[in-house]
Amino acid sequence: MPERIPKRLIIVSNRLPFQLIKQANRTEIKESDGGLVSALKSYFEGDRDGQIQFDSILWIGSAEFSEKAWMDFDKDELEKLPYTVEPIFIDKKVYHKYYNGFCNATLWPLFHYFPSFVEFDNKTFAAYEEVNQQFSERILMTLTPGDILWIHDYQLMLLPSMVRKKLPDATIGFFLHIPFPSFEIFRLLHRPWKEKLTEGLLGADLIGFHTHEYVQHFLKTVQMVKGYDHQFRTILLPDRVLKAEMFPLGIDFSKFHNAALLHQVMERKTEIKSNFADKKIIFSVDRLDYTKGITHRLAGFESFLENHPEWREKIVFILVVVPSRQIVSKYNERKKLIEEEIGGINGRYATLGWQPIIYRYNYLSFHELVSMYNVADIGLITPLRDGMNLVAKEYVASQTDRGVLILSELAGAANELGEAILVNPMDKDEMSDAILQAVLMPAETQRQKIQVLQQRLKDYTVTHWLADFLRQLEETKQHQRTQQTK
Ligand code: G6P
Repeated sequence: MPERIPKRLIIVSNRLPFQLIKQANRTEIKESDGGLVSALKSYFEGDRDGQIQFDSILWIGSAEFSEKAWMDFDKDELEKLPYTVEPIFIDKKVYHKYYNGFCNATLWPLFHYFPSFVEFDNKTFAAYEEVNQQFSERILMTLTPGDILWIHDYQLMLLPSMVRKKLPDATIGFFLHIPFPSFEIFRLLHRPWKEKLTEGLLGADLIGFHTHEYVQHFLKTVQMVKGYDHQFRTILLPDRVLKAEMFPLGIDFSKFHNAALLHQVMERKTEIKSNFADKKIIFSVDRLDYTKGITHRLAGFESFLENHPEWREKIVFILVVVPSRQIVSKYNERKKLIEEEIGGINGRYATLGWQPIIYRYNYLSFHELVSMYNVADIGLITPLRDGMNLVAKEYVASQTDRGVLILSELAGAANELGEAILVNPMDKDEMSDAILQAVLMPAETQRQKIQVLQQRLKDYTVTHWLADFLRQLEETKQHQRTQQTK
């Protein structure tokens, strides 16, 4: 009998899913709360009947710590993790041009439909190529037959074809966590960049997107930039076929739902509620990002106070903003705008006993976050553009009884959460009407909607997403093999 080749899953992303935290005289590992981490855990720990079995997982990503800190650190700590890790140490200057430059001042604004924010700089593209190249070299050092490579997100779009060139038979999946824009937007990139980015992705066997629309945009781009046709989302390259498919990212539903029932969360909830007795609570939480539509949301809330003065002193908006990408100028400018706007609204409407907006610029712990979701009568999630938006899904999962989600129709999640009140995030009067509709919604209607939404989130969690992607990747590979033997 031929010996069985061990199956290894290699996850590749810009960030590693943990940080090194210095505690007095020792350094510890702190895992991030990210969905992919919990999906991998539940995939490995849960019932794996019918799912692809892996013998091990390796995670490759850029290091947010120095090579020295890594060398000095007690590797027994790594035993805590259900995967092995390989950090890549990138020169600080190169990383700055790649991350703050091409990733977050070029690709991010363009893919989120902010073309006027896009910086065009050949030097940052060169750094982007260099970092993708370093990832590729590291992968090629470790990749063996039987490995499944799964590359994540816009920071690494050149990587699939870099690996494919050296290893034509490799199994490579790619998932884009942000929107793939319409060709009218994508075409604004400098010609060599758009060609290289498109070719880069075509190195994969399966390319996943959150929505059907993003898949269609990508197929159109491939046709326009490279001239390759497609049939039912299968792209026909001269030497092989590959697939572009929709996989709407889910959340770890029970993690949020069960946490909402914990004693400590209940206690915190009572505490928050008593601070705002007899008031409706609106809640939102986002990374500080111009794509999240925070200033537009504030304008919508102000319209509500203006249009419905009877609600003044009876409602409060708790707005949590999490620091992000602080070196990129557009992010800093946004922070100032948000804070000015909040100051203005509070100044105009506050009374001695009431402040309309409670603002926090900080990180929330997981339990604090679930308490906030659970206590909030309304989750107001209104990005101007968002690949998916998991906050909307987390808000729904954290409800025990009722709650109303107001969601931007420009978030990928709107495709799945049709029972929410969907709004145009640019239209402040529509947002004001939506807030009124939410505060007046009968409890029974809220309960029914939340139940339907929760069932949908339970039916396709992040673990289903992961299993679905890996299964289709294997199927695409098999399909290619049958095509080759014909
Ligand atoms: C989005 C992107 C991720 C990114 C995350 C946080 O969700 O799709 O790739 O990791 O934002 O951004 P950051 O720049 O802090 O990694």
